[in-house]
Amino acid sequence: MVPVPDCLTRGALYPLESRDYADGRLPGASEESAMTLFRGNNGPRLKHVPDEGAPYDTITIDKLTPVIGAEIGGVDLAHPLGNRTLDEIHRALAENLVIFFRDQHITADQHLAFGRLFGELHIHPAAPHEPGKPELMVIHADKDSPRANGEGWHSDVSCDPEPPMGSILYIRKCPPKGGDTLFASMYAAYEALSDRMKTYLEGLTAIHDGEGYRGQYANYGIADKPSYPRAEHPVIRTHPVTGKKALYVNRGFTRRIVGIPADESDGILRYLYDHAENPLFQCRFRWSENAIAFWDNRCVQHRAMWDYWPHTRSGNRVTVKGDRPV
Ligand code: SIN
Repeated sequence: MVPVPDCLTRGALYPLESRDYADGRLPGASEESAMTLFRGNNGPRLKHVPDEGAPYDTITIDKLTPVIGAEIGGVDLAHPLGNRTLDEIHRALAENLVIFFRDQHITADQHLAFGRLFGELHIHPAAPHEPGKPELMVIHADKDSPRANGEGWHSDVSCDPEPPMGSILYIRKCPPKGGDTLFASMYAAYEALSDRMKTYLEGLTAIHDGEGYRGQYANYGIADKPSYPRAEHPVIRTHPVTGKKALYVNRGFTRRIVGIPADESDGILRYLYDHAENPLFQCRFRWSENAIAFWDNRCVQHRAMWDYWPHTRSGNRVTVKGDRPV
């Protein structure tokens, strides 16, 4: 029998530096125990060794962290990409999970064409798009906006039975400061789980629900659909390209784990969300105008910061269709 993890009885996330509570005290119980939490002797919580693939010939790679994120140089997306460059971009995405291109000056059609190099394009079930271009989602917030896109941690449209493989966001207008996007590796989140927790989660599935979209885009004059997508996905998925396991639940869409009591599901999900948001697994991208971020939704969650009010941040997202998670 797989034991129910301790986090259900603790209620809150324990600091990640304290792996095993050797003294049996809860975090924060006293100043002394709080200090103990920062004196772990089991090494880092995450022992991640980056993939050292073959060198790149046609592009340059500048990693943001050893865990996730890289800026790509030597590419002008306004011009056709050679096969070699395209292969290297594919590999850079697989190795770094989210890749960034600065100073790109592309038209809407070039943005769409770049997305199509990676697969068929996805149409968002709720969000506004540019006139006549349903695959070109509008990302915009200004002083009058009631909301901004992506303000909570999520994987794009994970409520779809076949959620998007990747998203390509082109930001043309930036605020003077702020508006960063945070990305988190769900491989790292999985790797850093205890073996007991990995065993417990293996084989579990969870419901992802798009009903949260209801009313979200009323300010654009968009009427709600009668229903939004809903799907059941594995809590731990295996990436179809890298073969690595990734945690696949997110605050934005996941509602409950199937086949366990509701209170247990709530406790486990709360723990997993807190765990997945550990800064150890993250990089943070500081946008500049005409930069592009391309992330792999199969192994990444992201969160956009709306810290720039009353300024404007604006661009478009092209989203590439994906497979049913397994
Ligand atoms: C999103 O696609 O969730 C929005 C991300 C962002 O605006 O940085």
